[in-house]
Amino acid sequence: MENIVSLCKRRGFIYQGSEIYGGLSGTFDYGPLGVALKNNIKNLWWKMFVDGREDMYGVDAAIIMNPKVWQASGHLSAGFSDPLVECGKCKKRFRADQLEDVSICPDCGGKLGIERRFNLMFKTNVGATEDESSVSYLRPETAQGMFVNFKNIIDSFHPKLPFGIAQIGKAFRNEIAPRDFLFRSREFEQMEIEYFIRGSDWKEEFEIWRKHMLEWINLIGLNKKNIHELEVPDGDRAHYSKRTIDFEYDFPFGKKELYGLAYRTDFDLSNHSRESSAALEYYDEETKEKFTPHVIEPTWGLDRTILAVLCDAYVEDEMGGEMRTYLKFSPRVAPVKAAVFPLLKNKPELVEKARGVYNELKREIGAVIFDDNGNIGKRYRRQDEIGTPYCITIDFDTLGDDTVTVRDRDTGEQERIKVSGIASFLSERIS
Ligand code: GAP
Repeated sequence: MENIVSLCKRRGFIYQGSEIYGGLSGTFDYGPLGVALKNNIKNLWWKMFVDGREDMYGVDAAIIMNPKVWQASGHLSAGFSDPLVECGKCKKRFRADQLEDVSICPDCGGKLGIERRFNLMFKTNVGATEDESSVSYLRPETAQGMFVNFKNIIDSFHPKLPFGIAQIGKAFRNEIAPRDFLFRSREFEQMEIEYFIRGSDWKEEFEIWRKHMLEWINLIGLNKKNIHELEVPDGDRAHYSKRTIDFEYDFPFGKKELYGLAYRTDFDLSNHSRESSAALEYYDEETKEKFTPHVIEPTWGLDRTILAVLCDAYVEDEMGGEMRTYLKFSPRVAPVKAAVFPLLKNKPELVEKARGVYNELKREIGAVIFDDNGNIGKRYRRQDEIGTPYCITIDFDTLGDDTVTVRDRDTGEQERIKVSGIASFLSERIS
Protein backbone atom coordinates (compact mmCIF):
# COMPACT_ATOMS: atom_id res chain seq x y z
CA MET A 1 0.00 0.00 0.00
CA GLU A 2 2.83 2.39 0.87
CA ASN A 3 4.35 1.88 -2.58
CA ILE A 4 1.06 2.66 -4.27
CA VAL A 5 0.49 5.81 -2.19
CA SER A 6 4.02 6.99 -2.93
CA LEU A 7 3.70 6.30 -6.67
CA CYS A 8 0.39 8.22 -6.70
CA LYS A 9 2.05 11.27 -5.16
CA ARG A 10 5.30 11.10 -7.11
CA ARG A 11 3.66 10.73 -10.51
CA GLY A 12 0.77 13.15 -10.00
CA PHE A 13 -2.23 10.90 -9.45
CA ILE A 14 -3.32 11.72 -5.90
CA TYR A 15 -2.03 14.11 -3.22
CA GLN A 16 -2.96 14.60 0.40
CA GLY A 17 -5.59 17.38 0.71
CA SER A 18 -4.20 20.80 1.81
CA GLU A 19 -0.75 19.21 1.96
CA ILE A 20 1.33 22.38 2.50
CA TYR A 21 -0.63 23.01 5.71
CA GLY A 22 0.03 19.52 7.03
CA GLY A 23 -3.02 18.06 5.31
CA LEU A 24 -6.64 17.69 6.38
CA SER A 25 -7.47 14.20 7.52
CA GLY A 26 -9.78 12.28 5.19
CA THR A 27 -9.38 14.59 2.18
CA PHE A 28 -7.44 14.09 -1.05
CA ASP A 29 -6.62 16.13 -4.13
CA TYR A 30 -6.46 14.45 -7.52
CA GLY A 31 -3.56 15.55 -9.72
CA PRO A 32 -3.57 15.57 -13.54
CA LEU A 33 -3.22 11.79 -13.97
CA GLY A 34 -5.71 11.07 -11.18
CA VAL A 35 -8.32 13.36 -12.74
CA ALA A 36 -7.82 11.66 -16.11
CA LEU A 37 -8.25 8.22 -14.52
CA LYS A 38 -11.32 9.40 -12.63
CA ASN A 39 -12.91 10.98 -15.70
CA ASN A 40 -12.30 7.84 -17.75
CA ILE A 41 -14.08 5.77 -15.09
CA LYS A 42 -16.96 8.23 -14.80
CA ASN A 43 -17.37 8.37 -18.58
CA LEU A 44 -17.37 4.59 -18.91
CA TRP A 45 -20.00 4.34 -16.17
CA TRP A 46 -22.20 7.02 -17.74
CA LYS A 47 -21.87 5.39 -21.14
CA MET A 48 -22.75 1.92 -19.79
CA PHE A 49 -25.59 2.83 -17.43
CA VAL A 50 -27.08 6.08 -18.77
CA ASP A 51 -26.31 6.71 -22.46
CA GLY A 52 -26.28 2.99 -23.22
CA ARG A 53 -29.84 2.43 -21.92
CA GLU A 54 -33.33 3.65 -22.78
CA ASP A 55 -34.66 3.51 -19.23
CA MET A 56 -32.16 5.73 -17.38
CA TYR A 57 -32.37 9.44 -16.56
CA GLY A 58 -29.28 11.32 -15.42
CA VAL A 59 -29.41 14.12 -12.84
CA ASP A 60 -26.93 16.36 -11.07
CA ALA A 61 -28.65 17.46 -7.86
CA ALA A 62 -27.54 20.03 -5.27
CA ILE A 63 -25.18 18.85 -2.54
CA ILE A 64 -26.92 20.92 0.14
CA MET A 65 -30.53 19.90 0.45
CA ASN A 66 -33.47 21.00 2.57
CA PRO A 67 -32.81 19.45 6.02
CA LYS A 68 -36.28 17.89 5.96
CA VAL A 69 -34.83 15.49 3.36
CA TRP A 70 -32.56 14.00 6.02
CA GLN A 71 -35.39 13.79 8.52
CA ALA A 72 -37.49 11.82 6.02
CA SER A 73 -34.63 9.61 4.84
CA GLY A 74 -33.76 8.54 8.39
CA HIS A 75 -30.23 10.00 8.24
CA LEU A 76 -30.87 12.44 11.09
CA SER A 77 -32.03 9.73 13.45
CA ALA A 78 -29.78 6.98 14.80
CA GLY A 79 -29.88 5.29 11.37
CA PHE A 80 -26.81 7.12 10.11
CA SER A 81 -24.32 7.13 12.93
CA ASP A 82 -21.31 5.19 14.15
CA PRO A 83 -20.50 4.13 17.72
CA LEU A 84 -18.01 6.58 19.25
CA VAL A 85 -15.82 6.37 22.34
CA GLU A 86 -13.57 9.14 23.66
CA CYS A 87 -10.41 8.81 25.74
CA GLY A 88 -10.73 10.63 29.08
CA LYS A 89 -6.97 11.38 29.05
CA CYS A 90 -5.83 12.34 25.51
CA LYS A 91 -9.39 13.16 24.26
CA LYS A 92 -8.85 11.16 21.04
CA ARG A 93 -12.01 9.64 19.55
CA PHE A 94 -12.35 6.12 18.16
CA ARG A 95 -14.96 4.01 16.42
CA ALA A 96 -15.95 1.50 19.07
CA ASP A 97 -16.57 -1.26 16.49
CA GLN A 98 -12.95 -0.98 15.29
CA LEU A 99 -11.33 -1.47 18.71
CA GLU A 100 -10.25 -4.74 20.27
CA ASP A 101 -10.73 -3.40 23.80
CA VAL A 102 -13.40 -0.70 24.18
CA SER A 103 -12.22 0.31 27.66
CA ILE A 104 -8.54 1.26 27.03
CA CYS A 105 -7.26 3.97 24.67
CA PRO A 106 -5.06 2.30 21.99
CA ASP A 107 -2.95 5.48 21.78
CA CYS A 108 -2.19 6.53 25.38
CA GLY A 109 -3.63 3.71 27.52
CA GLY A 110 -6.11 6.10 29.19
CA LYS A 111 -9.63 5.05 30.11
CA LEU A 112 -12.21 5.25 27.32
CA GLY A 113 -15.61 6.79 28.11
CA ILE A 114 -18.99 5.22 27.46
CA GLU A 115 -20.05 4.52 23.90
CA ARG A 116 -22.41 6.99 22.20
CA ARG A 117 -23.82 7.40 18.70
CA PHE A 118 -22.07 9.95 16.46
CA ASN A 119 -24.00 11.25 13.43
CA LEU A 120 -21.78 11.26 10.35
CA MET A 121 -23.39 14.18 8.55
CA PHE A 122 -21.48 17.45 8.15
CA LYS A 123 -23.57 20.29 9.56
CA THR A 124 -23.58 23.77 8.07
CA ASN A 125 -25.67 26.93 8.17
CA VAL A 126 -27.37 28.23 5.08
CA GLY A 127 -27.48 32.01 4.76
CA ALA A 128 -26.42 34.71 7.20
CA THR A 129 -28.22 33.52 10.32
CA GLU A 130 -26.60 30.92 12.51
CA ASP A 131 -29.42 29.35 14.45
CA GLU A 132 -31.33 26.07 14.38
CA SER A 133 -33.58 27.33 11.58
CA SER A 134 -30.64 27.70 9.16
CA VAL A 135 -28.99 24.34 9.85
CA SER A 136 -28.49 22.06 6.88
CA TYR A 137 -26.14 19.23 5.93
CA LEU A 138 -23.79 18.22 3.15
CA ARG A 139 -25.36 15.15 1.58
CA PRO A 140 -23.94 11.86 2.90
CA GLU A 141 -25.23 9.96 -0.17
CA THR A 142 -26.22 11.12 -3.66
CA ALA A 143 -29.29 8.87 -3.54
CA GLN A 144 -31.64 11.44 -1.97
CA GLY A 145 -31.04 13.75 -4.96
CA MET A 146 -32.73 11.09 -7.08
CA PHE A 147 -35.66 10.50 -4.72
CA VAL A 148 -36.52 14.19 -4.45
CA ASN A 149 -36.46 14.46 -8.27
CA PHE A 150 -38.63 11.38 -8.85
CA LYS A 151 -41.72 13.53 -9.49
CA ASN A 152 -39.83 15.94 -11.75
CA ILE A 153 -38.61 13.08 -13.94
CA ILE A 154 -42.12 11.57 -14.13
CA ASP A 155 -43.64 14.95 -15.05
CA SER A 156 -40.98 15.86 -17.65
CA PHE A 157 -40.38 12.49 -19.29
CA HIS A 158 -43.35 10.21 -18.48
CA PRO A 159 -41.13 7.14 -18.21
CA LYS A 160 -42.58 3.64 -18.11
CA LEU A 161 -41.76 1.49 -15.11
CA PRO A 162 -39.16 0.09 -14.55
CA PHE A 163 -36.84 3.06 -14.99
CA GLY A 164 -33.86 4.51 -13.16
CA ILE A 165 -32.41 7.84 -12.11
CA ALA A 166 -28.63 8.01 -12.10
CA GLN A 167 -26.14 10.45 -10.66
CA ILE A 168 -22.42 10.89 -10.15
CA GLY A 169 -21.44 13.31 -7.43
CA LYS A 170 -19.77 14.18 -4.18
CA ALA A 171 -20.88 12.86 -0.81
CA PHE A 172 -19.56 13.84 2.62
CA ARG A 173 -19.29 11.87 5.83
CA ASN A 174 -17.58 13.03 8.99
CA GLU A 175 -15.95 9.63 9.49
CA ILE A 176 -14.62 9.10 13.01
CA ALA A 177 -11.55 7.33 11.72
CA PRO A 178 -10.73 8.03 8.04
CA ARG A 179 -8.14 5.48 6.96
CA ASP A 180 -6.53 3.38 4.25
CA PHE A 181 -5.86 6.17 1.73
CA LEU A 182 -8.92 6.72 -0.49
CA PHE A 183 -10.84 3.87 1.11
CA ARG A 184 -12.48 5.78 3.93
CA SER A 185 -12.37 9.52 3.41
CA ARG A 186 -14.60 12.37 4.51
CA GLU A 187 -15.25 13.74 1.03
CA PHE A 188 -15.73 11.25 -1.77
CA GLU A 189 -17.70 10.60 -4.94
CA GLN A 190 -20.45 8.11 -5.57
CA MET A 191 -21.98 6.79 -8.78
CA GLU A 192 -25.50 5.69 -7.89
CA ILE A 193 -28.71 4.49 -9.50
CA GLU A 194 -32.15 4.39 -7.97
CA TYR A 195 -34.03 1.88 -10.12
CA PHE A 196 -37.81 2.12 -9.69
CA ILE A 197 -39.77 -1.11 -10.00
CA ARG A 198 -42.98 -2.82 -8.96
CA GLY A 199 -42.52 -4.24 -5.47
CA SER A 200 -43.49 -7.71 -6.70
CA ASP A 201 -40.53 -7.73 -9.16
CA TRP A 202 -37.77 -6.96 -6.67
CA LYS A 203 -36.11 -10.39 -6.57
CA GLU A 204 -35.67 -10.62 -10.37
CA GLU A 205 -34.54 -6.99 -10.67
CA PHE A 206 -32.05 -7.51 -7.85
CA GLU A 207 -30.50 -10.43 -9.76
CA ILE A 208 -30.35 -8.41 -13.00
CA TRP A 209 -28.46 -5.61 -11.22
CA ARG A 210 -26.17 -8.07 -9.55
CA LYS A 211 -25.08 -9.23 -13.03
CA HIS A 212 -24.70 -5.65 -14.28
CA MET A 213 -22.38 -4.89 -11.37
CA LEU A 214 -20.20 -7.85 -12.28
CA GLU A 215 -20.18 -6.72 -15.93
CA TRP A 216 -18.97 -3.32 -14.77
CA ILE A 217 -16.18 -4.89 -12.72
CA ASN A 218 -15.13 -6.75 -15.85
CA LEU A 219 -15.34 -3.62 -18.03
CA ILE A 220 -12.86 -1.67 -15.91
CA GLY A 221 -10.47 -4.62 -15.90
CA LEU A 222 -10.56 -5.67 -12.23
CA ASN A 223 -9.46 -9.25 -11.66
CA LYS A 224 -12.56 -11.30 -10.73
CA LYS A 225 -10.42 -13.33 -8.31
CA ASN A 226 -10.18 -10.25 -6.08
CA ILE A 227 -13.96 -9.71 -5.89
CA HIS A 228 -16.21 -11.42 -3.33
CA GLU A 229 -19.92 -11.11 -2.76
CA LEU A 230 -21.15 -10.81 0.81
CA GLU A 231 -24.79 -11.27 1.77
CA VAL A 232 -25.13 -8.64 4.49
CA PRO A 233 -26.94 -10.24 7.45
CA ASP A 234 -29.96 -8.87 9.33
CA GLY A 235 -28.87 -6.24 11.80
CA ASP A 236 -25.84 -5.16 9.72
CA ARG A 237 -27.76 -3.60 6.83
CA ALA A 238 -28.44 0.12 6.41
CA HIS A 239 -31.71 1.26 8.00
CA TYR A 240 -33.53 1.39 4.64
CA SER A 241 -32.51 -1.97 3.22
CA LYS A 242 -34.36 -5.28 3.17
CA ARG A 243 -31.55 -7.05 1.32
CA THR A 244 -27.96 -5.98 0.60
CA ILE A 245 -25.08 -7.62 -1.19
CA ASP A 246 -21.68 -6.02 -0.73
CA PHE A 247 -19.13 -6.51 -3.49
CA GLU A 248 -15.88 -6.75 -1.58
CA TYR A 249 -12.38 -6.32 -2.97
CA ASP A 250 -9.12 -7.81 -1.70
CA PHE A 251 -7.37 -4.53 -0.83
CA PRO A 252 -3.79 -4.78 0.54
CA PHE A 253 -5.27 -3.92 3.98
CA GLY A 254 -7.91 -6.65 3.81
CA LYS A 255 -11.15 -7.73 2.13
CA LYS A 256 -13.39 -4.66 2.29
CA GLU A 257 -16.57 -3.23 0.72
CA LEU A 258 -16.12 -1.82 -2.76
CA TYR A 259 -19.75 -1.55 -3.94
CA GLY A 260 -23.22 -2.25 -2.59
CA LEU A 261 -26.49 -3.47 -4.03
CA ALA A 262 -29.56 -2.83 -1.89
CA TYR A 263 -33.29 -3.38 -2.06
CA ARG A 264 -34.54 -0.13 -0.49
CA THR A 265 -38.22 -1.16 -0.77
CA ASP A 266 -40.55 1.89 -0.95
CA PHE A 267 -38.88 3.28 2.19
CA ASP A 268 -37.61 6.54 0.67
CA LEU A 269 -40.49 7.46 -1.65
CA SER A 270 -43.09 6.68 1.04
CA ASN A 271 -41.26 8.73 3.67
CA HIS A 272 -40.72 11.70 1.34
CA SER A 273 -44.33 11.50 0.24
CA ARG A 274 -45.51 11.62 3.84
CA GLU A 275 -43.09 14.37 4.96
CA SER A 276 -43.38 16.64 1.90
CA SER A 277 -47.03 15.96 1.02
CA ALA A 278 -45.95 15.50 -2.63
CA ALA A 279 -47.62 12.57 -4.38
CA LEU A 280 -44.62 10.34 -5.18
CA GLU A 281 -46.57 7.66 -6.95
CA TYR A 282 -46.59 6.02 -10.33
CA TYR A 283 -49.71 5.78 -12.45
CA ASP A 284 -49.81 2.80 -14.79
CA GLU A 285 -51.76 3.89 -17.91
CA GLU A 286 -52.46 0.32 -18.95
CA THR A 287 -53.71 -1.17 -15.70
CA LYS A 288 -54.98 2.16 -14.31
CA GLU A 289 -53.23 1.40 -11.00
CA LYS A 290 -51.57 4.03 -8.83
CA PHE A 291 -48.85 2.84 -6.47
CA THR A 292 -45.53 3.72 -4.83
CA PRO A 293 -42.66 2.08 -6.71
CA HIS A 294 -40.00 0.08 -4.89
CA VAL A 295 -36.29 0.62 -5.46
CA ILE A 296 -33.21 -1.42 -6.27
CA GLU A 297 -30.09 0.63 -5.58
CA PRO A 298 -26.72 -0.32 -7.06
CA THR A 299 -24.06 2.00 -5.65
CA TRP A 300 -20.45 2.45 -6.65
CA GLY A 301 -17.89 4.45 -4.68
CA LEU A 302 -15.80 6.25 -7.31
CA ASP A 303 -12.73 6.75 -5.11
CA ARG A 304 -12.84 3.14 -3.94
CA THR A 305 -13.06 2.13 -7.61
CA ILE A 306 -9.91 4.16 -8.28
CA LEU A 307 -8.16 2.57 -5.31
CA ALA A 308 -9.15 -0.94 -6.45
CA VAL A 309 -8.06 -0.18 -10.03
CA LEU A 310 -4.69 1.07 -8.74
CA CYS A 311 -4.16 -1.93 -6.43
CA ASP A 312 -5.17 -4.36 -9.17
CA ALA A 313 -2.87 -2.72 -11.70
CA TYR A 314 0.23 -2.34 -9.54
CA VAL A 315 2.95 -4.79 -10.60
CA GLU A 316 6.63 -5.08 -9.77
CA ASP A 317 8.49 -7.36 -12.18
CA GLU A 318 11.70 -7.73 -14.13
CA MET A 319 12.11 -6.77 -17.77
CA GLY A 320 15.34 -7.03 -19.74
CA GLY A 321 17.25 -7.85 -16.55
CA GLU A 322 16.01 -4.70 -14.76
CA MET A 323 13.41 -4.29 -12.04
CA ARG A 324 10.43 -2.22 -13.08
CA THR A 325 7.20 -1.02 -11.50
CA TYR A 326 4.23 -0.67 -13.77
CA LEU A 327 0.50 -0.09 -13.69
CA LYS A 328 -1.31 -2.69 -15.74
CA PHE A 329 -4.38 -0.51 -16.38
CA SER A 330 -6.96 -1.59 -18.89
CA PRO A 331 -6.36 0.78 -21.87
CA ARG A 332 -9.99 1.92 -21.32
CA VAL A 333 -9.16 3.53 -17.97
CA ALA A 334 -5.47 4.39 -18.51
CA PRO A 335 -5.00 8.16 -18.01
CA VAL A 336 -2.50 8.36 -20.88
CA LYS A 337 -3.25 6.18 -23.88
CA ALA A 338 0.04 6.53 -25.72
CA ALA A 339 3.41 8.28 -25.56
CA VAL A 340 5.28 9.44 -28.67
CA PHE A 341 9.10 9.48 -28.70
CA PRO A 342 11.66 10.56 -31.28
CA LEU A 343 14.47 7.97 -30.98
CA LEU A 344 17.06 10.73 -30.57
CA LYS A 345 16.52 14.23 -29.28
CA ASN A 346 19.38 15.77 -31.22
CA LYS A 347 18.16 14.74 -34.70
CA PRO A 348 15.80 17.53 -35.86
CA GLU A 349 14.29 15.38 -38.62
CA LEU A 350 13.24 12.71 -36.07
CA VAL A 351 11.89 15.31 -33.63
CA GLU A 352 9.92 17.06 -36.35
CA LYS A 353 8.40 13.80 -37.60
CA ALA A 354 7.58 12.73 -34.02
CA ARG A 355 5.92 16.11 -33.33
CA GLY A 356 3.77 15.61 -36.43
CA VAL A 357 2.65 12.14 -35.26
CA TYR A 358 2.02 13.47 -31.74
CA ASN A 359 -0.06 16.44 -32.98
CA GLU A 360 -2.24 14.16 -35.06
CA LEU A 361 -2.79 11.71 -32.19
CA LYS A 362 -3.50 14.57 -29.80
CA ARG A 363 -6.30 15.67 -32.14
CA GLU A 364 -7.70 12.16 -32.64
CA ILE A 365 -7.15 10.51 -29.25
CA GLY A 366 -6.44 13.36 -26.82
CA ALA A 367 -4.67 11.65 -23.93
CA VAL A 368 -1.26 11.32 -25.59
CA ILE A 369 2.08 12.69 -24.41
CA PHE A 370 5.38 13.58 -26.05
CA ASP A 371 8.69 12.68 -24.41
CA ASP A 372 12.21 13.17 -25.78
CA ASN A 373 14.02 13.22 -22.44
CA GLY A 374 16.68 10.59 -21.66
CA ASN A 375 17.35 7.24 -23.29
CA ILE A 376 14.52 5.13 -24.69
CA GLY A 377 14.74 2.59 -21.83
CA LYS A 378 14.17 5.33 -19.24
CA ARG A 379 11.30 6.77 -21.23
CA TYR A 380 9.65 3.32 -21.36
CA ARG A 381 10.00 2.94 -17.57
CA ARG A 382 8.46 6.36 -16.97
CA GLN A 383 5.43 5.43 -19.07
CA ASP A 384 5.17 1.96 -17.52
CA GLU A 385 4.99 3.52 -14.09
CA ILE A 386 1.92 5.60 -15.00
CA GLY A 387 0.33 2.74 -16.93
CA THR A 388 0.57 4.07 -20.50
CA PRO A 389 -0.34 1.02 -22.61
CA TYR A 390 1.52 1.99 -25.81
CA CYS A 391 4.79 3.77 -26.61
CA ILE A 392 5.33 4.91 -30.18
CA THR A 393 8.90 5.51 -31.36
CA ILE A 394 9.88 7.44 -34.44
CA ASP A 395 13.26 6.18 -35.73
CA PHE A 396 15.31 6.43 -38.93
CA ASP A 397 13.18 3.81 -40.69
CA THR A 398 10.15 6.05 -40.13
CA LEU A 399 11.71 8.67 -42.38
CA GLY A 400 12.00 6.12 -45.20
CA ASP A 401 8.84 3.98 -44.96
CA ASP A 402 6.50 5.98 -42.70
CA THR A 403 6.22 3.20 -40.12
CA VAL A 404 6.77 3.45 -36.36
CA THR A 405 7.37 0.95 -33.57
CA VAL A 406 4.54 0.43 -31.12
CA ARG A 407 5.66 -1.12 -27.84
CA ASP A 408 3.21 -2.97 -25.62
CA ARG A 409 3.55 -2.04 -21.92
CA ASP A 410 2.85 -5.49 -20.48
CA THR A 411 4.99 -7.66 -22.76
CA GLY A 412 7.56 -5.13 -23.93
CA GLU A 413 7.02 -6.51 -27.45
CA GLN A 414 7.21 -4.15 -30.39
CA GLU A 415 5.52 -4.16 -33.77
CA ARG A 416 5.94 -1.85 -36.74
CA ILE A 417 2.85 -0.17 -38.03
CA LYS A 418 2.09 2.54 -40.60
CA VAL A 419 1.79 6.09 -39.28
CA SER A 420 -1.59 6.35 -41.00
CA GLY A 421 -2.85 3.36 -38.99
CA ILE A 422 -1.83 4.42 -35.46
CA ALA A 423 -4.98 6.38 -34.55
CA SER A 424 -7.27 3.47 -35.44
CA PHE A 425 -4.87 0.99 -33.75
CA LEU A 426 -5.27 3.00 -30.52
CA SER A 427 -9.00 3.73 -30.88
CA GLU A 428 -9.81 0.03 -31.21
CA ARG A 429 -7.96 -0.74 -27.99
CA ILE A 430 -9.15 2.09 -25.76
CA SER A 431 -12.91 1.99 -26.37
N1 GAP B 1 -26.79 5.31 -1.22
C1 GAP B 1 -26.30 4.17 -0.55
C2 GAP B 1 -25.05 4.39 0.14
O1 GAP B 1 -24.58 5.51 0.26
P1 GAP B 1 -23.07 3.15 1.33
O2 GAP B 1 -22.75 1.68 1.37
O3 GAP B 1 -23.12 3.88 2.62
O4 GAP B 1 -24.48 3.25 0.58
C3 GAP B 1 -22.02 3.52 -1.01
O5 GAP B 1 -22.08 3.89 0.36
C4 GAP B 1 -20.60 3.42 -1.49
O6 GAP B 1 -19.93 4.66 -1.25
C5 GAP B 1 -19.76 2.37 -0.75
O7 GAP B 1 -19.94 1.08 -1.29
C6 GAP B 1 -18.36 2.90 -0.98
O8 GAP B 1 -17.89 2.51 -2.24
C7 GAP B 1 -18.56 4.41 -0.98
N2 GAP B 1 -18.22 4.99 0.34
C8 GAP B 1 -18.97 5.01 1.45
N3 GAP B 1 -18.34 5.65 2.46
C9 GAP B 1 -17.14 6.04 1.97
C10 GAP B 1 -16.02 6.75 2.52
N4 GAP B 1 -16.03 7.21 3.76
N5 GAP B 1 -14.95 6.98 1.73
C11 GAP B 1 -14.94 6.55 0.45
N6 GAP B 1 -15.96 5.88 -0.12
C12 GAP B 1 -17.06 5.62 0.61
